[in-house]
Amino acid sequence: MARINDNYLKLKAGYLFPEIGRRIKAFTEANPQAKVIRLGIGDVTRPLAPAVIEAFHRGVDDLTRVESFMGYGPEQGYDWLIDAIIDNAFKPRGVNLKRSEIFISDGSKCDCANILDIFDLGNKVAIGDPVYPVYNDTNVMVGRTGEADSRGYYEGIVYIPCTEENHFTPPIPQEKVDLIYLCFPNNPTGAVAGKEQLQQWVDYARTNEAVILFDAAYEAFITDPAIPHSIYEIPGAETCAIEFRSFSKTAGFTGVRCAFTVVPEALRARNAQGEPVALNQLWNRRQATKFNGVSYPVQRAAAAVYSPEGWRQNQEIIDYYMENARLIREGLEDAGVTCFGGTNAPYIWLTTPAGLSSWDFFDQLLNECHVVGTPGSGFGPSGEGYFRLSAFGQRENVSEAVSRIRKNLA
Ligand code: MLT
Repeated sequence: MARINDNYLKLKAGYLFPEIGRRIKAFTEANPQAKVIRLGIGDVTRPLAPAVIEAFHRGVDDLTRVESFMGYGPEQGYDWLIDAIIDNAFKPRGVNLKRSEIFISDGSKCDCANILDIFDLGNKVAIGDPVYPVYNDTNVMVGRTGEADSRGYYEGIVYIPCTEENHFTPPIPQEKVDLIYLCFPNNPTGAVAGKEQLQQWVDYARTNEAVILFDAAYEAFITDPAIPHSIYEIPGAETCAIEFRSFSKTAGFTGVRCAFTVVPEALRARNAQGEPVALNQLWNRRQATKFNGVSYPVQRAAAAVYSPEGWRQNQEIIDYYMENARLIREGLEDAGVTCFGGTNAPYIWLTTPAGLSSWDFFDQLLNECHVVGTPGSGFGPSGEGYFRLSAFGQRENVSEAVSRIRKNLA
């Protein structure tokens, strides 16, 4: 009989969001009349911007004619999309990238997971706590860890608690690590990092020959002009960081699927002989072998995000979600709840009332308010006693959810 990858057996329970889904299903089956409002998983609800839809349609139409039909595209994406990204997402922020440094993909979740293919299992990995669970679980899956302890910390991973005291931003580790996951604006806490803070990480990574895996999936929600959108705004980052970007939350592509990863040509890590090797070449090789690119109409739609109309229309959608974030944050603060995030990020991170555990508060909100959020402990042990609400809902649902929670807590 074939053998399984035993590392999967080390994983605790289910992945967070399917587990929440199971609880909602059980509740709605038992309470079919309840109008459940979902502010749990960060899934968008606004339709795609009209300019994006038009480009998407045109992309499909191209496939209907022999002269404009497209088959396999370049594995790393079409140049016209890559150029639009370079010119609109990076150049205005003083970051100059080459075409060869951008890799179009079908999602940042996949890229954050797949990037582990090009790193040796012996690397020491540092992860914030709480954290987007994918960083942790994928390291368990590939076999970089031992078993989890009673708190849920896996042997072999360096966890960096992100707490109210450190403003939910991970302090530089005392020990030497090789791979560091950073996510700003942060999922789940909504915290952001300024230039000085990121410079410290870049300096640490360069001194220790570490690689920063920088997840910038929520950069479009930054409202403070002093906050960097890209790690490459920090001098030296091109020699020590990979950046993940996504159209999912920033342009409503959670169901459409498009993202990209930046691997600068200057970035190196050592081989078994101690010689420096360009990670760009390894990632290119990995993607060309295991991935066949994002569909042509989807890339056409993604490129339209950077057209003048697409950009303006999309900004209106982002503003809509950030207004939701303000309504949640201010509505709950008025009711005496301590809230974090929600000003440069679409997530509100709150302290559970009356010292309830995260899952107890989840059950209270589901059963008594018919509102779904995400228990903080699902993002790691330091998330216990916290709860995350997503601002990606429809306005009337967000308002209704805030009013139900306020009544419940009164
Ligand atoms: C979340 O709610 O944390 C995100 O939607 C998950 C994801 O982007 O995969």
